[in-house]
Amino acid sequence: MKIVKVQDYEEISKKAASYIAAQVQLKPSCILGLATGSTPYGTYQELIRYHREEDLSFQKVRTVNLDEYYGLPATHEQSYSHFMRENLFRYIDILPENTHIPDGLATDPNAFGREYDELIVSLGGIDMQLLGIGSNGHIAFNEPDNCFVAQTRLVDLNHNTIEDNARFFESAEEVPRQAISMGMKSILGAKRILILASGKGKADAVKGMLEGSVDPMLPASILQLHQNVTLIADLAALSQTTESVLR
Ligand code: GLP
Repeated sequence: MKIVKVQDYEEISKKAASYIAAQVQLKPSCILGLATGSTPYGTYQELIRYHREEDLSFQKVRTVNLDEYYGLPATHEQSYSHFMRENLFRYIDILPENTHIPDGLATDPNAFGREYDELIVSLGGIDMQLLGIGSNGHIAFNEPDNCFVAQTRLVDLNHNTIEDNARFFESAEEVPRQAISMGMKSILGAKRILILASGKGKADAVKGMLEGSVDPMLPASILQLHQNVTLIADLAALSQTTESVLR
């Protein structure tokens, strides 16, 4: 895994956006895998700047998002559909029909998941997948478990994740208990993966991902098996990582 060590969140955002912008310039019809959460917010702000100030066009880009809370309609303020619309899509020239996000109201979420994986294959696979990392080491909503799961499917959220994400809701009780999450097969099928980590709350998960064994109890550790992963992390997120690993 290539590690790009930067000072702070702002630098993560600029660096990540520059990689994504380069991907879009090199292949205007690329498939981008997109993430939500607080971490990619700055990256999206920077991509909006590229669009406005540097004429970067997303007209031919197609996107697939990692996950969605189960039970929330796309109109709900905390849905990931709403997040993507309000923090990226409405400010760039992407065509709404080219954006894909799991349907939080799917009546058969596991059948939906299978179709979502097939959709990704039919698009030609993900060229560049953006990821954040949960404080428990999750990627998308693939929570620590006793095995890795390949398929996109309905998942139960871990109590840790519910607590972490309660800050976006009025209270922890309001955080949905389930989500539809992209599975490991589609994530690892991406040609290139960018994973972002900011802040000391991620330091243990980052250390485990880089230095531990490949272990489903720390889902991000599976990225060790992928040939083209770049971690962009700030000093705080790398504060627990052994110095020699960073050289
Ligand atoms: C969320 C999302 C993940 C995200 C992670 C970290 O629950 N499902 O895709 O990477 O948790 O979130 P944040 O960036 O807000 O720390």
